[in-house]
Amino acid sequence: MKIYRKTIVIATAAIVSGWLSSSPVAADVARDAIMDGFAAQADMAFSADRGRVLFEIKQGGGKPETPSCTTCHNASPQNAGQTRAGKLIEPMAVSKTPGRFTDPKKVKKWFRRNCKSVLGRECSAQEKGDFLTFMVSQ
Ligand code: HEC
Repeated sequence: MKIYRKTIVIATAAIVSGWLSSSPVAADVARDAIMDGFAAQADMAFSADRGRVLFEIKQGGGKPETPSCTTCHNASPQNAGQTRAGKLIEPMAVSKTPGRFTDPKKVKKWFRRNCKSVLGRECSAQEKGDFLTFMVSQ
């Protein structure tokens, strides 16, 4: 009886962790929580159009070799990009890479690093929310 109960616990844990890592619903919940965090610090409602502009334009202010987000991320969010060293970067569009923007630590780390490279400064909460809103719409 005891062994039987243990098996159920393990099986349940396996199902739950599998659900958390693979379910689109769980991914949406995690991403929404990250976006809520940005919304709490932003003045305006997020705009996919502003997010697109942030993604596409040559910013100036950052490193000459990384003028825009699209330098590494493909100009189309639907397509894979590549690092300066030629390593593949999965598409940024959430429809193509459902796990995108669901890990708060990863999101924080890469926004900081990439905004500094491209804009020469950190992105604001408004810019981050706009960017994610654009990628969610793609
Ligand atoms: C020098 C190359 C490079 C540039 C330029 C770049 N990125 Fe990235 N970015 C990466 C790499 C590499 C990763 C991590 C690999 C991955 O997520 O597939 C990443 C990941 C990210 C992530 C985290 C994705 C996730 O799933 O959580 C965000 C957010 C991001 N970039 C935003 C931006 C923004 C905004 C810009 C422009 C201001 C930008 N990036 C420009 C290389 C770049």
